[in-house]
Amino acid sequence: MHNTVRTIKTAIFISGRGSNMETLIKHSKKKDSKSQITKIFSNNINATGLEIAKRLKVPKTYYFSRNVFEKKIKKNLVNIDLICLAGFMQILSPAFVKEWKGRIINIHPSYLPYFKGIKAQQKAIESHSTYSGCTVHYVNKNIDAGKIIIQKKIKILKKDNTESLSKKILKEEHKLYPIALDMVVNKLLLNEKNI
Ligand code: GRF
Repeated sequence: MHNTVRTIKTAIFISGRGSNMETLIKHSKKKDSKSQITKIFSNNINATGLEIAKRLKVPKTYYFSRNVFEKKIKKNLVNIDLICLAGFMQILSPAFVKEWKGRIINIHPSYLPYFKGIKAQQKAIESHSTYSGCTVHYVNKNIDAGKIIIQKKIKILKKDNTESLSKKILKEEHKLYPIALDMVVNKLLLNEKNI
């Protein structure tokens, strides 16, 4: 019998370490997963995530420098249903984001709308906040401001510093992103059925 189960072909954009990418790849390889990570795109040739992706046998990995990134990826996204940003340090153009509306998501290391942008963990520590967290959200043209899919609060203790908080947040990110991926994938599949 042919396997006719529809899977959501997913691409991940990275710039560095790739630990969230790794959890998404491993999650999608599980039995009954409805997502399939088929392509990884990096705007940094030295991203360790590229090595991880090859080791985990993602079918295709690409590197394109920042200034040509959007232009070069276009034709490679033809069969892609969903884009996950995972530590991708580049602002995508409003036109690109509009084209992918509802099909591009990001993970951010804070309890949005608090501490948007870079160094979110440091901002949380410096503000003496009692909590921060992590958030997976849709991407729109404003940075870290798209519709929230799921988020988790994390307590900041007196003894915490940027490093210890970053560690705690990352651990939760690795749990949250796969859950968010499943939520979005289910929604996309449901929309297809209703068309
Ligand atoms: C994560 O903290 C993510 O929230 C932020 O960048 C970091 C990427 O880490 N956007 P990694 O590359 O997934 O290990």
